[in-house]
Amino acid sequence: MRDHFNREINYLRLSVTDLCNLRCAYCMPAEGVVKRAHADILRVEEIGEIVRACAACGITKVRLTGGEPLVRRGIVDICRLAAATEGIREVCMTTNGVLLPEYAQKLRDAGLRRVNISLDSLNPETYRGVSRRDELSAAERGLEAALGAGFDAVKVNAVLMAGINDGEIAKLAALTRRGVDVRFIELMPVGERAAWNREHFLENSAVLKALPELIPAGAEGVATYYRLPSASGRVGLISPVSAHFCPDCNRIRVTSDGKLKPCLHAKAEINLRGLRGAALEETVRAAIGQKPERHALERGVSESGRNMNEIGG
Ligand code: GTP
Ligand code: 5AD
Ligand code: SF4
Repeated sequence: MRDHFNREINYLRLSVTDLCNLRCAYCMPAEGVVKRAHADILRVEEIGEIVRACAACGITKVRLTGGEPLVRRGIVDICRLAAATEGIREVCMTTNGVLLPEYAQKLRDAGLRRVNISLDSLNPETYRGVSRRDELSAAERGLEAALGAGFDAVKVNAVLMAGINDGEIAKLAALTRRGVDVRFIELMPVGERAAWNREHFLENSAVLKALPELIPAGAEGVATYYRLPSASGRVGLISPVSAHFCPDCNRIRVTSDGKLKPCLHAKAEINLRGLRGAALEETVRAAIGQKPERHALERGVSESGRNMNEIGG
């Protein structure tokens, strides 16, 4: 359906858990993450109901997010359920890749079409510094597993951080020679980590400076794409801070505790728990109608009252 600003809303980002097996510095605090009570997290059947209601409101694409979606028990069933929902044309996932060696093929077989892997560094120390865990080799094996599983597309997401991974732009971009799209993301000031994120913020123009040989290749979704000469994958820039893409926004989010967020950076949350059938559908429709025109990151931090691991990006 169209929202109040005539944007076609057809994309649901569904967080299936706020738990994660990493602790990325820009996303979560290092310690003291409070585990939500099991009962607070949407059950598989509730997720099925929500996807069905969203599809009835015009959603055609579902992206499963986290936290880390692969630490959620039943993730393969969730995938299968979403893919089988009438009206849903594509189910995708954003994952840190650490558990993909075990899951890639099972997910593909359950109907997952595409996978985006968060990989901020190819240097073991830097990776450990950012994610606070020693999992680079597992994530790299996860990328290989994804490439071997027959997905329609595999993308790598790297959050650009000044003084941390800005020396690795060329090395990360070289992964496009293997057919994957590599997208650099500007660090957004969200949640408890907002101050750290602002300190390490770097505009995506740094990528263009580091890779003058890039050839423009159009825009798609939230990214602007380029190509390295002779590489089959694309280099993408996602620039929510320096060039916000709100006028083209096509998405809503649902948190793992069942709140619909019309905008990533706004405070508004609409509770979906306890609703079913027509009432659920009506609530989703009203929430889409409530999407704000744009975020105001340039005025300061995100107004979303949550950490990124609770929203799913
Ligand atoms: P594709 O379907 O492959 O285009 O994926 P995607 O880019 O929609 O999803 P992904 O989870 O890979 O998101 C990439 C980055 O874009 C993440 O850092 C998200 O936080 C960020 N992002 C996604 N949607 C939005 C949005 O609506 N607003 C802002 N500001 N950032 C977003
Ligand atoms: N700014 C930009 N990207 C972020 N991500 C998580 N937190 C932030 C942030 N503050 C990214 C992850 C992943 C995606 C879902 O969101 O690295 O690629
Ligand atoms: Fe986990 Fe993703 Fe947050 Fe990193 S960015 S801590 S991988 S949820």
